[in-house]
Amino acid sequence: MSSYLALVPAAGSGSRLGATRPKQYLQLNGKPLLWHTLSTLAAVPAISQVTVVLAADDLWFDRFDWPLAKLRVCRVGGASRAETVRNGLQALNCGERDWVLVHDAARCCLSQTAVERLITELTDNEVGGLLALPVADTVKRADAARCVSATVPRSDLWLAQTPQMFRAGKLVQALASMPLADITDEASALEALGLRPQLVEGDAQNFKVTYPRDIALAEAILAARKDADVSSWAGL
Ligand code: C5P
Repeated sequence: MSSYLALVPAAGSGSRLGATRPKQYLQLNGKPLLWHTLSTLAAVPAISQVTVVLAADDLWFDRFDWPLAKLRVCRVGGASRAETVRNGLQALNCGERDWVLVHDAARCCLSQTAVERLITELTDNEVGGLLALPVADTVKRADAARCVSATVPRSDLWLAQTPQMFRAGKLVQALASMPLADITDEASALEALGLRPQLVEGDAQNFKVTYPRDIALAEAILAARKDADVSSWAGL
């Protein structure tokens, strides 16, 4: 039977955030941002292992506690996200047909429900797929002067999120088949092999913390979720 393994690239510096530490270690409601991400993945019963890929010179991870039984740490991060994922995959030591769920560390508001939906909807899918959101807003194309040059039909446009879930063998093959610099997500590498990943509806809360304004929103989402958990435990 195939295993489900989560792989979390967390070797970025988060320069767009302009913080004094890499964004995965910013404190959100008293815990590092990365902790929220890893604990959600570890809470999914189908996932047997969560591997976080850190930069070789990461000085932050060991300053915190990570009491997650499924967690494995490897320090083989690369110069780009794609390189970090490729290196992490090599360290996973898994079977060709095991499923790998690659998830951005910076998407810390991922819900367990969304991961379970991804796994369930892809059960019988040979290629795999990704969480994504149908585009709700009208989309404009800009020219060099930032004036509108066109309105782009949006009916078949989706915004890619993570996790992106593929068979380990196919993912290794896809990442080896094109220059790492051209790979912005795992799905695009599979597409370059002529395969067609499935889009599974994600949710708007699963955004990537990128700019300073994102921090307050992520904290509010995580706090609301915690409150909801406490109310349901209390039978409220
Ligand atoms: O920079 P950005 O937010 O797009 O990065 C997406 C994810 O890729 C983050 O979780 C980040 O830590 C990771 N990353 C990485 N290695 C890099 C660059 C980014 O693991 N060299």
